Amino acid sequence: MADAVDYDQLIPNNVGLADDPKLRRALEAWHPGYIDWWMDMGPDGFQEAEVWLRTAVSVEKSGWAKFAFVRMPEYRWGILLAPRHEERTIPCGEHLGEPAWQEVPGEYRALLRRLIVIQGDTEPASVEQQRFLGRTAPSLYDMRNLFQVNVEEGRHLWAMVYLLQKYFGRDGREEAKGLLERRSGSDDRPRMLGAFNEETPDWLSFFLFTFFTDRDGKMQLEALAQSGFDPLSRTCRFMLAEEAHHMFVGDTGVGRIVRRTAEAMKEAGIEDPYDADAVRALGVIDFPTIQRKMNLHFSLTLDLFGSEQSTNAATAFNAGVKGRFREADIDDDHQLHDNTYPLLEQVGDGFEKVEIPALKALNARLRDDFVDDCAGGLRRWNRDIAAAGIAFELKLPHIAFNRQIGEFADAGVTPKGAIVDGATWESSSADWLPTPDDRAFIEDLMQPLHEPGKFASWIAPPRKGIAQKPIDYEYVRLPY
Ligand SMILES: [Fe+2]
Ligand SMILES: [Fe+2]
Repeated sequence: MADAVDYDQLIPNNVGLADDPKLRRALEAWHPGYIDWWMDMGPDGFQEAEVWLRTAVSVEKSGWAKFAFVRMPEYRWGILLAPRHEERTIPCGEHLGEPAWQEVPGEYRALLRRLIVIQGDTEPASVEQQRFLGRTAPSLYDMRNLFQVNVEEGRHLWAMVYLLQKYFGRDGREEAKGLLERRSGSDDRPRMLGAFNEETPDWLSFFLFTFFTDRDGKMQLEALAQSGFDPLSRTCRFMLAEEAHHMFVGDTGVGRIVRRTAEAMKEAGIEDPYDADAVRALGVIDFPTIQRKMNLHFSLTLDLFGSEQSTNAATAFNAGVKGRFREADIDDDHQLHDNTYPLLEQVGDGFEKVEIPALKALNARLRDDFVDDCAGGLRRWNRDIAAAGIAFELKLPHIAFNRQIGEFADAGVTPKGAIVDGATWESSSADWLPTPDDRAFIEDLMQPLHEPGKFASWIAPPRKGIAQKPIDYEYVRLPY
């Protein structure tokens, strides 16, 4: 079967690497640099640990993964594409309805390469951002989930490097090298996008990152899965299967922190959510601090969608190399000749939706789809707060809050969406964004718990374990 995964090769794959010696040599030449990068920048202090990890062994919808104890440097990072649909056509833009491309069209080569490199750059970046978190894991269960996310982000880098090496010749090889050379947060060679140069200093940040920033990843992959360049589409479709787990980790991670705080407050009879000292004394994270951290991660993530009005995004859509979220389900001409889109803009001292040509508003639209996609998590978290009888509601801040890119860059906007002057913003931002005091408190709280079945004071146990294993399973066998 064409899509069977070949695990006898150094690089597991379902792309026929055994029959493509030139590509195989290129990837095998890249492999040692990847391992060096993983050893340098991957999970610090845990490369020898045996981790209960899933590895993708097929691209079928059911049973695509198998679980086993693996040392992370020995993880079988493979190249896996979702099955090819013979009849697939280009879903949008000026080539609408033409057969999907199996090779890179010359006129879109630079555009495609740039999209692939930008996507590829985010994958190793998040591993770098998360490399110290193993040390403060609140349980072995959580540690395992962190490492699962990390090895899969590594695989996503392989997925993009495969495309670069196979379809972009010498330029592709150069770009593949560059992906191993940039470093998150570096002054001279930073990662390409802002949010991927920020720190992920603690587990609340990690869960918010996987909830928000991995969800941006999901939206980008959904849009690239619509690409008329079929190998990119197939790559992204399979990555989305893995990405779902990353969002599960974020959603349930934040949810368990919220639930634990709500339970602890209820047990102690504390009703005022703003009495931070009393709540923190219980060894849990107070809701206003969670809200401030959420404000930060949400606003950083919105910047990843780029300028709301973008001619680059219009070009990519017109070319048929990047579509919209669930393009096929949208009821329009998929070319956007005359369509408009309601774009939120600052008008005077408020905000209004203004109809602009839909083709120019594609980034805004994807961002709006993202915001909708976040709603489920918040609803679940708030239900647990309400169930404990506490008067507090976590809310997404206004989309113009704390933005560095696009329509609202540098506008002084509060989380509730009020426009304020610079001085007011400066003097109030400590109410809206994490403070040094928040950070010190959380850092103090993050003490490791490496005993099977035990969970740190600030996080509730999960409702069930991973892959039929019990919650108190030894998900990570530590070498000491
Ligand atoms: Fe990824
Ligand atoms: Fe991810």
